[in-house]
Amino acid sequence: MSILLLCALLLSGCGSTKDNNAAETNSETASVETVSVTAAAESEVTEMPVSEQETVVTVPEINEDFTTGNGCAKGRGKALASVCDDEFASDGKALKIYHRIESWNGADFDAEAFRGNTIDVTGSFRSAASAVRVSIQYSVYGSACYVGVFTVNTSEDKYSSGSGSFAIPANAEKIVLYIESDSLDDIYCDSFSVKVSGDYRYLPEAQELVFVDTSSYPSLKELYRDDFLMGVATTNDMLDTEDYCGLIKAQFNSMTLGNSFKPDSLLDRGATLADLDKYMECPAIKFNNVKKELDFAKENGMTVRGHTLVWHSQTPDWIFYKDYDPNGELADRELMLKRMENYIAAVVTWADENYPGLVSCWDVVNEAADDGGGMRKSLWYQTVGEDYVQRAFEYARKHAPEGTKLFYNDYNSYQTKKQKDIIDMITPIIADGNIDGMGMQSHLNTDVSVSLYMAALKRYAELGLEIHVTELDIGVKRADGWKETQGEYFRKFMEELLKAERNGVNVTSVTVWGLNDCLSWKAADLPLLFDDDLSRKPAFDGVVQAAEDVNAA
Ligand code: XIL
Repeated sequence: MSILLLCALLLSGCGSTKDNNAAETNSETASVETVSVTAAAESEVTEMPVSEQETVVTVPEINEDFTTGNGCAKGRGKALASVCDDEFASDGKALKIYHRIESWNGADFDAEAFRGNTIDVTGSFRSAASAVRVSIQYSVYGSACYVGVFTVNTSEDKYSSGSGSFAIPANAEKIVLYIESDSLDDIYCDSFSVKVSGDYRYLPEAQELVFVDTSSYPSLKELYRDDFLMGVATTNDMLDTEDYCGLIKAQFNSMTLGNSFKPDSLLDRGATLADLDKYMECPAIKFNNVKKELDFAKENGMTVRGHTLVWHSQTPDWIFYKDYDPNGELADRELMLKRMENYIAAVVTWADENYPGLVSCWDVVNEAADDGGGMRKSLWYQTVGEDYVQRAFEYARKHAPEGTKLFYNDYNSYQTKKQKDIIDMITPIIADGNIDGMGMQSHLNTDVSVSLYMAALKRYAELGLEIHVTELDIGVKRADGWKETQGEYFRKFMEELLKAERNGVNVTSVTVWGLNDCLSWKAADLPLLFDDDLSRKPAFDGVVQAAEDVNAA
């Protein structure tokens, strides 16, 4: 006999479920709508009286207007979060998130109780930062992942709201929703709510994830051996899971460290502040985060794409300030050029000395073009000026070992207007002889025109650039047949890429941005080749089929 869990639909202020014995609930709950859920495991306690077998589970909800306190919000990282009076807030009170030293510092909301459910999240924010992001963090099998739920464009003197939905995997642990922004400005939150969409599924513990045997899968690196490298983005945590390691080794011959080589992972604020004189012209750098992934690549004969040296995101704001004090003045051009050159020199030299020949290319500058046109007005742009991209490539060429390929990397780089802006930006760098390749990130979805993409790819190649598809993932809407729709898109995309390459377009590497959907940075869009348990999706079969078809033709 199964234990029945009687789930009373009560509202809980803090997103946590409360387990009570049904016998203890008073008659008031009887008027509340209830649902019964069969427990996952068969009960061995068959003789238990009904009243003791029933558990009332409060359906979790977060519904904060911050009139009476923080609710369940906590400061994230070094940030503090506390309720304040705020004339702009609808009810005169808001949660103020401040003392943000790194851009990821913000506010956390425990979301453990929503495991295995689809949630609808809404929030209302104001900030001098131009955008505030709500994301979710969780781990699956010890691998952490961070997924955006929605972004709100914000201004200082009025609140703007946004909303988004997310299906939290049943295997997720340590589930936290958080508020952050790229800049260090204070964030005010007038309201924040999280509701379960549809029927509540009560999963007090993460469901075990049992990986399938992947050893019989055809190998992508073998299928594409004569055409281009096949790569994958990794994280440190992933390499603790044998099944992931096995699949990576079997399928890929190139690796991109998905986060570990980024400035926020390398820069050491504490050491920098402890000796300002020593570090004034280059913040302190620590390399402990990259070794595990680089050792793995080396041991398995893979090459590494270095990602990334100069970027506006995942780069702490404090490096742009005189004396590294974000409350002070921005550093001037001369100082920022020194910091840029010294940083680039230190990173590429360290890689060369410690892992000679392993990092075959660098994304020297990432995402410098603005979606709205022209160049992104990042802190690099503000402090150095519009030649910062050109200078970065000059320094990279000067300090990188001979033969290292230097790439510009961006998303939506297939879009006509953005492509024009990118080409305008890199044309002088091509003339300087300081750039070798174009990295097309390729975070796509099944609505993107493959022919538009391929036309853009050819145009970059015509500039004499080598092409890398650097961060391929293809999102799809959850509708009937979504897996097949996505599989067909992957097939077509890879077929066209192969044909272009065989027709002389210099495509030399294709990297997928992760292994299984639940750990993708776009987990909601299910954009990768493997299911959570590493089953091959039609997406994987599509990539296999493209190579087989083109080879057979
Ligand atoms: C993503 C990582 O995959 C996430 O884990 C991280 O939280 C955010 O960054 N463009 C890039 C990549 O160049 O570095 C980004 O990677 C995805 C967008």
